[in-house]
Amino acid sequence: MTPRRILITGASRGIGAALARAYAGPGITLGLLARTEAALRETAELCRAGGAHVTEIVADIRDRDAVRDRLLAFDAEHPVDLVIANAGVQHSSGDDAATERASYGEIEVNLLGALNSALPFVAPMRARGRGQIALVSSLAGFSPLPDSPGYSAAKAGLIAYGIATRERLRGTGVSVCVACPGYVETDMAAPYRGWRPMSMTADEAARQIRRGLERDRPIIAFPRSLALLARVSALVPEPMRRPFMGRLRFTYD
Ligand SMILES: NC(=O)c1ccc[n+]([C@@H]2O[C@H](COP(=O)([O-])OP(=O)(O)OC[C@H]3O[C@@H](n4cnc5c(N)ncnc54)[C@H](OP(=O)(O)O)[C@@H]3O)[C@@H](O)[C@H]2O)c1
Repeated sequence: MTPRRILITGASRGIGAALARAYAGPGITLGLLARTEAALRETAELCRAGGAHVTEIVADIRDRDAVRDRLLAFDAEHPVDLVIANAGVQHSSGDDAATERASYGEIEVNLLGALNSALPFVAPMRARGRGQIALVSSLAGFSPLPDSPGYSAAKAGLIAYGIATRERLRGTGVSVCVACPGYVETDMAAPYRGWRPMSMTADEAARQIRRGLERDRPIIAFPRSLALLARVSALVPEPMRRPFMGRLRFTYD
């Protein structure tokens, strides 16, 4: 299926903006959602210049009811073929109190917010007998980062929710895919200092996600060798995994 009506959250910058630019073209309708109006407009204008019809949706994905209403209104006008729940945050942590605060914020946006943006589409897609739901998780969902427990937990939760829902919806024409990027050079990753193996641009990440969605891969994990390491590390006994994960410690600017 070639998606023609696509909803992308977190489209004001980073991977979401790169995805929007990648899909933009004549005959394509995009719904682009984020909180920052000016930045969202910039992405929208680039996509319009590429020939796409674009609706900007300024919203906070933590607001479940409002987001649901806005997304269903968009879907009523433009029956969505593909939704990409990409918006996410990673907060700086540090001492125990800061880590706790960061964790609740990350789980609220990265897990609950992602579900707030994706689940409203299940019923209308099911009724149409077609549609694809993409959840943007992270390799941190397979291999938890010591400095980002809340982020890692949210992303692991998203992987579990996505795999379970894909199976639950099998045979309905609605497919669920979970994208798990490694390190991507965006505003999110910019403030932290530490080893970021095989880091890639947002455009490259968008290309990989799009290719995986076209092939309807259940898990779109990349770059391939880092993804393999992350997935294998989930099976390795903790005393063997820990020395490697220690190398992935980071500090925030
Ligand atoms: N960068 C990486 O290394 C990396 C690696 C693996 C996975 N990921 C995942 O990829 C996704 C995109 O990340 P990125 O690197 O592109 O981050 P980014 O550059 O910081 O962009 C995050 C996007 O999410 C939006 N957003 C954040 N909170 C929101 C909220 N409450 N409501 C609506 N929109 C919200 C932001 O827009 P506003 O601020 O305007 O709302 C922005 O458009 C995230 O889910 C992230 O966890 C990133």
